Amino acid sequence: MDYIGIDLGTSAVKLLLMGGDGTIRNVVSREYPIYFPRSGWSEQRPEDWWSAVQDGLKALLTGFDAKQVAGISFGGQMHGLVMLDAEDRVIRPAILWNDGRTAEQTAWLNDTVGKETLSACTANIAFAGFTAPKLLWVREKEPENFARIAKIMLPKDYIAYQLTGVHSTDYSDASGMLLLDVEHKCWSEKMLELCGVEKSWLPALFESYQPTGTVKPALAAQLGLECNCVVAAGAGDNAAAAVGTGTVGEGRCNVSLGTSGTIFISSRSFRVDSRNALHAFDHADGQYHLMGCMLSAASCNQWWMDSIIGTKDYAAEQAGMEERLGENSTFFLPYLMGERSPHNDPKARGMFIGMSMDTTRRDMTQAIMEGVSFGIRDSFEVAKALGIRLDSTRICGGGAKSALWRKMIANILNLRVERVASEEGPGLGAAMLAAVACGEYASVEEAADAIVQVTETVEPDPLLAAKYQEQYERFEKLYPAVKAWF
Ligand code: XUL
Repeated sequence: MDYIGIDLGTSAVKLLLMGGDGTIRNVVSREYPIYFPRSGWSEQRPEDWWSAVQDGLKALLTGFDAKQVAGISFGGQMHGLVMLDAEDRVIRPAILWNDGRTAEQTAWLNDTVGKETLSACTANIAFAGFTAPKLLWVREKEPENFARIAKIMLPKDYIAYQLTGVHSTDYSDASGMLLLDVEHKCWSEKMLELCGVEKSWLPALFESYQPTGTVKPALAAQLGLECNCVVAAGAGDNAAAAVGTGTVGEGRCNVSLGTSGTIFISSRSFRVDSRNALHAFDHADGQYHLMGCMLSAASCNQWWMDSIIGTKDYAAEQAGMEERLGENSTFFLPYLMGERSPHNDPKARGMFIGMSMDTTRRDMTQAIMEGVSFGIRDSFEVAKALGIRLDSTRICGGGAKSALWRKMIANILNLRVERVASEEGPGLGAAMLAAVACGEYASVEEAADAIVQVTETVEPDPLLAAKYQEQYERFEKLYPAVKAWF
């Protein structure tokens, strides 16, 4: 049988058709707009997601036997707040994971409610991008919209709802709402009360690999699917990407260089870092993970290339850079949308520093790629301080297509970087979750063992890693030095 993975990203939705043995049969993507109504705000229209998914599903299945599709599942951009009224109409555009408007609400949660209470209830503290501060913002700033809420959901859950009519979510994605008791996998009554959330607004909770329903008959007929085509809960995009790169079970790591940049460490046991600098979330394999998330990663490079220097030729801009690795005196702070992990500062912004008259455009491009890699290292340092020891990481996301960026990550983190056969981390992971839901594999770990293959490894080079160690020591001093200015 075949399975569909829907990766509802920030710049586009990617849909992937996978055979039962893990063969990728087809991939299509559809873009949609993102709106930045004010500096640091970021919104999308759920209706745009749904039309892109419908269009994408038709394109994905063209030339394939849709009757062979046994299941569909998701990886989705996390934390976004989708609100529906009693007639199932979208109340306002979704407020996204990289939106920083909730600085006041986040501060109220962390300082007045208190980090200890939050951590005891949810295993996490408040970050501007999480869902609960967004709800508080809507309650305060748009009371007429808040009064209309009948259901709240996360981005991918809106697509699942359109497909099945079932109001569901999964533990990995729900972990990022700051409403879930992550350790015990249930809603936190105390957080619901604090945020004014009615229990009836909340979706039913499932493991990522559990079926939640089937595709609605009319839609199934329209797409040529069997009417018993299963829909599985799916996962937040990072947990889905981790499944797609085989980052499941105990102590494995994945770095994702997408719009956001994340370092994701899977674990069989629940744990929280004492400063809550890393997120302690449930994993799509039924277990747990720790994650550091940067709000702008490959998107910094995209901003620089597309909007500032105006070129699409990424390879040309990176030409000749390899000989200069570890020697750049230009640094870049990659906080174009504020920063989440580990600084938790929605007011932080991007910055170049260290230029001189001989600085070139290539040095600046290199500084961006290195700045993102140093930002990932900031979160990795928190994990190391917890006693977590790793010698390798998988890598995925658009930025991972660059051999140079993979080399930077290997040497800046001083880890062996393993590339897997498919870069479609969340889409593949989502299709694998659908396959588990349909019984093709007994567990997510079994599916990962059978499907995920390492195709390339990049070993850190001791000399280069030492140069980058010195550079990181300079980088880590920059944010504290300019924090007050932000
Ligand atoms: C994770 C996060 C981002 C989004 C990107 O906490 O906010 O990685 O999920 O889609």
